[in-house]
Amino acid sequence: MELSNRKIVLGVTGGIAAYKSCELVRRLREQGAHVQAVMTHSARNFLAPASLQALTGMPVFDDLWDTRMSDGMAHIALSRDADAILVAPASANFLAKIANGLCDDLLSTLVLARRSAQCKLLLAPAMNVEMWEQPATQRNIERLRADGALILGPAHGDQACGEVGAGRMIEPDEILADLVAAFQSKCLRGRRVLITAGPTFEPLDPVRGITNRSSGKMGYALARAAREAGADVTLVSGPTMLAAPHGVRRVEVDSAAQMLERVLAAVETADVFIAVAAVADWRAASISPLKLKKRASAEPPTLQLANNPDILATVAALPLPPLCVGFAAESERLIEHARSKLSSKGVAMMVANSIPDALGSDEAELVIVDATTARTLPRASKLEQGRRIVAAIADRLATRVDPGEPGT
Ligand code: C5P
Repeated sequence: MELSNRKIVLGVTGGIAAYKSCELVRRLREQGAHVQAVMTHSARNFLAPASLQALTGMPVFDDLWDTRMSDGMAHIALSRDADAILVAPASANFLAKIANGLCDDLLSTLVLARRSAQCKLLLAPAMNVEMWEQPATQRNIERLRADGALILGPAHGDQACGEVGAGRMIEPDEILADLVAAFQSKCLRGRRVLITAGPTFEPLDPVRGITNRSSGKMGYALARAAREAGADVTLVSGPTMLAAPHGVRRVEVDSAAQMLERVLAAVETADVFIAVAAVADWRAASISPLKLKKRASAEPPTLQLANNPDILATVAALPLPPLCVGFAAESERLIEHARSKLSSKGVAMMVANSIPDALGSDEAELVIVDATTARTLPRASKLEQGRRIVAAIADRLATRVDPGEPGT
């Protein structure tokens, strides 16, 4: 549970996206959050307070003068123990008010009365594209950012009014991911991280190919963890069933050759390269342009294989390589094999995991191996392991002297 015991004030303002707030409450509660809903008066035109009350299990407040508060100070009482105020949807009017410190209803007063050091402010704008693009709204957004608010989205697409453009509220799952990220350390802020993930698919003919059982879960979890830590993340992914983590730029490829090409196109600006992909060691020496035919009497075809490029070793051998981190899935003598790959590929860190633990599971026990140390990361979810690896990478970056030196 990513939000255990977190106290979240969910503000709902007047916009059609308010119907998604119910789904958002469910997502927040699934992750262990206590949710206190506060509505503006216009939000009640879109959503009945009873819906939010049923889903949060708490009375819903919408009035500065609510007599249920014994001291008559709902704006203080509701903000004091909150870890975050999340306003979703945040209307143009509401953003304009709080950008200027206005406080003429309960929700805007709560925002102004919060203790900024301990209560984060996250705003998920939702409005018509013209309203979003108005200089006045853009000014308010800039002002709110400068004041420390996190602006979530908005997304681009079809709008309830029938127009198309920027201004849609981002989806509840994406809001949840941003809220979880808000509580993580920003140890990679300003860094660019390039990650490979998943299997590769090496075609034999237009329908068949060589692949492997990598699920991509570890690489995707690392991409999410790096993004949570404030990095700009590019994920070059082989074929998987996974959705791209929110806020991560995903480049989809099939073969090792394509993966190498896309990695080399992005690596120049990367501070860190993490090779998690289970790259096929071999590809077909030649790919048949036509489907290979099965003939009843004939012998099966013989496959001629060629070696695939080693993407990690290629990147580590660049004149000015980023900090390189590899993964080693081993059946035995984990640390020994990981350390030998560390030196043969010329990388700073290898993360070792054991087969079959490494494949498909949602959890893993890992060992971070460098030239002199081996640190076990006790069994945990791949997301948690991703966060630990990100922290280790951030430590390493902080002490990195010469980016060109192998093994740094
Ligand atoms: O040599 P081995 O495949 O065991 O090394 C694993 C590490 O090297 C992983 O980090 C994997 O992503 C990377 N690798 C690569 N290109 C290859 C083979 C492995 O980047 N062709």
